[in-house]
Amino acid sequence: MRASLRLFFALWPDADLRAALDAEAGRLHKLRGGRRTRADTLHLTLAFLGEVDQSGLPALQEMAAEIRVPRFEAVFDRFDCWRHNRVAHLGARRIPPELQELVRRLETGARQLGLPVEQRPYVPHITLLRHADCAQEMTNPASPEVRWLARDWVLVSSSLRSGGALYEQMGRWPLL
Ligand code: 2AM
Repeated sequence: MRASLRLFFALWPDADLRAALDAEAGRLHKLRGGRRTRADTLHLTLAFLGEVDQSGLPALQEMAAEIRVPRFEAVFDRFDCWRHNRVAHLGARRIPPELQELVRRLETGARQLGLPVEQRPYVPHITLLRHADCAQEMTNPASPEVRWLARDWVLVSSSLRSGGALYEQMGRWPLL
């Protein structure tokens, strides 16, 4: 067994939502090229934890189980392309307060467990393409409108395999 795990908290789409996100990836790919995110790995990261020792997992799961945040709907309504890392993604003009609160609770909880977490403000984004052509000024496809009704969130372990990233869920907790 590996001594440490590469972990992050995320919202994971159901089958319908995954299909909608994958369709948006297809639209953006026509314009920006690059490598599409495999449909079964599309997600929204809430908090990235990085490498965590296996022994820290139970405390992290207990911390997550304490969190009480209401369900919410997030609307992903903009395409964006970051030049610095060539990541093309779906973003949201407005962050629902419940999403912001969930992220805040996860970051605070992780910090209290001694894990290094992101200091920068949370920018929700769903990565659709990597190695995308973000350098050129071009008009993105017509604005998307993907509605994500969040009912729960997950803790995911990622490892790199020859075929790409392998994601394994290490826990799932409901929104209220
Ligand atoms: P990305 O899609 O923008 O690369 C699994 O790798 C998830 O964690 C992805 O959603 C990825 O975001 C995110 N991630 C990877 N490294 C990260 C980091 N250093 N800070 C924040 N998020 C990160």
